[in-house]
Amino acid sequence: MLPSADQNEILRRRTFAIISHPDAGKTTLTEKLLLYGGAIHVAGAVKSNKIRKTATSDWMEIEKQRGISVATSVMGFDYSGYHINILDTPGHQDFAEDTFRTLTAVDSAIVVIDSAKGVETQTRRLMEVCRMRKTPVMVFMNKMDREGKDPFDLIDEAEKELGIHCTPVTWANGQGLKFESVFAINNRPAELSEKIQEDMEIIDEVYPTFDREAYLRGDLAPVFFGSAYKTVGVQELLDFLVTNAPSPLPVTAEERTVEPMEDKFTAFCFKIHANMDPNHRSCIAFFKICSGKFLRNTYYYHVRKDQQMRFAAPTCFMAQKKETVDEAFAGDVVGLPDTGNFKIGDTLTAGEHLHFKGLPSFSPEMFKYIDNADPMKQKQLEKGVNQLMDEGVAQLFISQLNGRKIIGTVGQLQFEVIQYRLEHEYQAKCKWQTLPMYKACWIESDDDAELDTFLKRKAQYMAKDKEGRDVFMADSAYVLNMAQQDYKHIKFHFTSEF
Ligand code: G4P
Repeated sequence: MLPSADQNEILRRRTFAIISHPDAGKTTLTEKLLLYGGAIHVAGAVKSNKIRKTATSDWMEIEKQRGISVATSVMGFDYSGYHINILDTPGHQDFAEDTFRTLTAVDSAIVVIDSAKGVETQTRRLMEVCRMRKTPVMVFMNKMDREGKDPFDLIDEAEKELGIHCTPVTWANGQGLKFESVFAINNRPAELSEKIQEDMEIIDEVYPTFDREAYLRGDLAPVFFGSAYKTVGVQELLDFLVTNAPSPLPVTAEERTVEPMEDKFTAFCFKIHANMDPNHRSCIAFFKICSGKFLRNTYYYHVRKDQQMRFAAPTCFMAQKKETVDEAFAGDVVGLPDTGNFKIGDTLTAGEHLHFKGLPSFSPEMFKYIDNADPMKQKQLEKGVNQLMDEGVAQLFISQLNGRKIIGTVGQLQFEVIQYRLEHEYQAKCKWQTLPMYKACWIESDDDAELDTFLKRKAQYMAKDKEGRDVFMADSAYVLNMAQQDYKHIKFHFTSEF
């Protein structure tokens, strides 16, 4: 076990992500939280790092902005005796995979919902990941200063659409132009308007009181109302979060469960950020510390490479500044300068052979064959494709039908990113051929004979993922449906870990 001073450091850490559909107010809320922490002093400071809406089809512009956003990848600050790490998630849906992976590195999440729009697609998808991982979530109903949906309808919608029980913790005094303030339901003012008095009666009758255990299990979400823009209801959320959100949680490795208070350091890589500037071609590998304490210039064991490594210039992220750090604790994220040693999912330890689970790949939605367009540059192309896949830019499959490489992504932009980077970083040229595929499903079965028959019959639709696992490429929802009916013992998974 760690000495108690180090244990206290870990206990006071709160590492979370804010997730939302674009425009619900994630950036504004993040910024207000940073203002409370004294980490920034003027509103608007985070804004410049946001991927601007106008840039949706111009990925170079997006990459430029993503470049700036290295500094906002993790925003650390102290508040009320706690150390908070907010892990940023890209707003653009074509980088959804980045967001999924970031969610594997947090101990809790805040879901921001625009109270005029209710639950939107991106929120629903991200929440699925939280549910799968049983991540505790809090819900912030934002933009109450605008005319929006009825608060009870919003809670109903959140319960139904996000698949989680909800209970309000704060309530808004009015909505739209009449919106002024919020109050804590369990500490409500003596004088309330008739309408709010009625609301309170309904709440007392319908909703359970907040149960922290249920929240920590991922079964119950406390709901807050407010306006990030007007800075109303934000402090209530933050105060509740520091007292109720979990400190770093145990993390499951294939070999055993790792407890944050263990004295031996362990960490896993959940994100690699490449520098697109050809003059500074280094990457930063982001590691979430799962246990113990990380020290600069100390040898750690890179499990996959079976190699000891030490880091002279690890960075931590305080507010929007990247700083070299001498030590960091379980719950923190350290950025390690990298020249191609790391890939997503890599584990660092103090010597133990550990492999962290829970960094699944998600079934991509767009598929293309990638072919070499310059016969002299075959090697460069292979190297480039492999490295970009290690960084988690997209997923690679090998068709069992013809041995060709298939790249799977969640959005068109990723293909453009790959092509550009192959050309500029690896001097390789590629061409694409679209595959009209619907989903890639990882398959498993207890029934070996049935699995065998399936693999033979569907040979032309089978591929291997980068770990050599069998993947069924269904070309339509209908085909997938039929396969599920015909092969009752085969499970079709939309993520690579099940
Ligand atoms: P995002 O990161 O989730 O994409 O959203 P962001 O915070 O950028 O907010 C999207 C828009 O919604 C911004 O307006 C922002 O000012 C506004 N907004 C955020 N919170 C609230 C709120 O509580 N009430 C109201 N009324 N508006 C809110 P914009 O016009 O797109 O940008 P800007 O010109 O204000 O910068």
